[in-house]
Amino acid sequence: MQDLVIRRPDDWHLHLRDGDMLKGVIADTSRHFARAIIMPNLVPPVVTAADAAAYRERILAALPAGDRFEPLMTLYLTEGTDPDDVEAGHKSGLVKAVKLYPAGATTNSHSGVRNIDKAMPVLERMAKIGVPLCVHGEVTTSDVDIFDREAVFIETVLDPLRKRLPELKVTMEHVTTKDGIDYIKASKANLAGSITTHHLIINRNAILVGGIKPHYYCLPVAKRENHRLALRAAAVSGDKRFFLGTDSAPHVDPLKECACGCAGIYTSINTMSCLAHVFEEEGALDKLEAFASLNGPAWYGLPVNDETITLRKQADAVTYPKKIETGAGLVTVFDPMFPLHWTVV
Ligand code: NCD
Ligand code: ZN
Repeated sequence: MQDLVIRRPDDWHLHLRDGDMLKGVIADTSRHFARAIIMPNLVPPVVTAADAAAYRERILAALPAGDRFEPLMTLYLTEGTDPDDVEAGHKSGLVKAVKLYPAGATTNSHSGVRNIDKAMPVLERMAKIGVPLCVHGEVTTSDVDIFDREAVFIETVLDPLRKRLPELKVTMEHVTTKDGIDYIKASKANLAGSITTHHLIINRNAILVGGIKPHYYCLPVAKRENHRLALRAAAVSGDKRFFLGTDSAPHVDPLKECACGCAGIYTSINTMSCLAHVFEEEGALDKLEAFASLNGPAWYGLPVNDETITLRKQADAVTYPKKIETGAGLVTVFDPMFPLHWTVV
């Protein structure tokens, strides 16, 4: 038996959904995490500060009794987003970031941004008042191969935007490529990246070898092995610019297991077990706290959590349910394809 005590972690990119799904998944996050950046891609999306305030109340109402968990709200950037509303929402403490989804990039992103020029007034205001922009960094035009969409986004959208507005703080969310890691490492200021649990564990073979495996399909899609290795090296490096954003994204099984399955992998329930395994494999258990509990708050200008959690390595494998019943339907849990021995006690 081996124990590892770390500050209570936070999740800097999480999909909680709404209604029955929200009620069915939130305990898996609030059990281990103190806070999470909540994605706004509901239907309809969370666009205004009033939408975010109402959604926050629904999240708090869905929490299991006694759990303390702080949802950190984001707004979904549209070409019509009002800079004054963003500023007022931020000043009140409610709005922690604004999320850029290129239109059509992923689940529920049709109201996203088509022409970034139209969003410049709000981006300029955010740069001025210090509101971070969280980006889903993929281009969406049909001429760009899905495995190249992150690298092309950096070159054609992100880098020009950062040159135009160097004061804007940008979180490159769920980085999946060596290109993304290298771009963040080369930056001097105002750029950081979140990394998911599953992208540290799977490469694209998990989705495609031996039959099509919809439960390993997410966006941005997992890439080649050399990219996974670059993500691992960044995550365990202790570099303050990299932190955990699980991108845990529940979809009920019938919407994943069909001819046109949804993107999203559900990892909230076993993320800390998976991460301890990965960090131990990399000989970097001493860096897990930086990745999961320290670097994120530093980037978002928030205090680290006072409480701690204890991870324990046990001889017997820890088991998680293969699926959880959410009230909205069954959701398949991420299977790392190796036995897990670390658990949160
Ligand atoms: C997310 C979802 O289902 O909302 N899916 C995913 O594959 N990650 C959207 C997103 O973050 O891209
Ligand atoms: Zn996401």
